[in-house]
Formats: sequence, C-alpha cells, structure tokens
Amino acid sequence: MSPVFAPIFAALHEKAFPAEPWDEASFATLLAQPHMHGFLDERGGFLLLRIVLDEAEIITIGVTMPRQGIATALLAQGIATARAAGVQKIHLEVAEDNAAARALYAAQNFIQTGRRKAYYADGAAALTLARDLG
Ligand SMILES: CC(C)(COP(=O)(O)OP(=O)(O)OC[C@H]1O[C@@H](n2cnc3c(N)ncnc32)[C@H](O)[C@@H]1OP(=O)(O)O)[C@@H](O)C(=O)NCCC(=O)NCCS
Repeated sequence: MSPVFAPIFAALHEKAFPAEPWDEASFATLLAQPHMHGFLDERGGFLLLRIVLDEAEIITIGVTMPRQGIATALLAQGIATARAAGVQKIHLEVAEDNAAARALYAAQNFIQTGRRKAYYADGAAALTLARDLG
C-alpha cells in the first residue's frame, strides 16, 4: 500500500491508540519500507504486516468500532496475503494487560512464545505470540 495512505492510518491509529498516536510521517516511512503490507477496512480499521521470506510480523492493528469483526477480517486478509507469499510463521507482540487483543489473538490460534518484562513505556510486559501457517 502506498505511503499516500499514511494520513488515514495515522487518523485510525490515533483513535485506536489514543495514548500513543503515531503521526503521518511515521506511517509514510513504514508504508514505504520494502516488505511492508498495509490493509484498511472502510468500517474503521488498519493492519500493518511485514513479510520477509517465510516469516511475517504484525506491526500494528487497530479498529475504531470494537467487536464488529473488523480486526478478524483484517487478520484474515493479512494471513491470506502471508500464505500466498509462502509464510510459515506469523509473529506479534502484545501488552500483557491488553485483554481485548489477547482474546482476539487467542481466537485466531496464536500461542505464546515468550514474555518481555517491563517492555512498554508504562511498565507493562510484552508477550510474544506466534501462529504456524504451514
Ligand atoms: C484488539 C482489537 C484490535 C480487536 O478488534 P475488534 O475488531 O474489536 O475484534 P473482533 O471484533 O474481530 O473480535 C474478535 C474476537 O476477539 C475477542 N475480543 C475482541 N475484543 C474483545 C474484548 N474487548 N474482550 C474480550 N474479547 C474480545 C472476542 O473473542 C471476539 O469475538 P466475539 O466478538 O465474537 O466474541 C481492538 O480492541 C483495538 O483496536 N484495540 C486497541 C488497539 C490494540 O490494542 N491493538 C492491538 C495491539 S497488539
């Protein structure tokens, strides 16, 4: 997805993560990176996925209208793209205290692979999760 969509990502990200907005310039830089795949849902959702060789990483995902199935739809698109690219494993990090995101990933069959103590600025731990696509 072209960096021209950076303002849309930044606006949606600010709504999904009001405490840690990423600005347009940050998204323009991310979207311009090789291997970066961006997805938007017109209902109000975004996903950035990096695919390198046979591994992928979810960089960020968020929605503006929770519990409408938007994140599930975005993940389905991202996973389909990853599979088509030959990805065997998809990774992500999630704050240990982010119950909504952890429930989403559990429903999508991601499993915990590690824990990073005091990883985020607020002191929360990060959990590393992964899902095999092979
Ligand atoms: C986490 C987030 C992306 C989920 O998006 P969503 O569009 O609401 O998720 P979906 O509607 O596709 O939910 C799918 C399933 O995930 C689980 N889930 C999602 N939100 C949940 C919540 N708040 N509490 C419990 N379970 C939840 C449920 O199992 C849900 O299925 P159900 O609604 O049929 O019960 C959204 O809450 C969000 O944008 N949060 C802020 C940004 C963020 O934390 N991003 C993730 C960073 S790692």
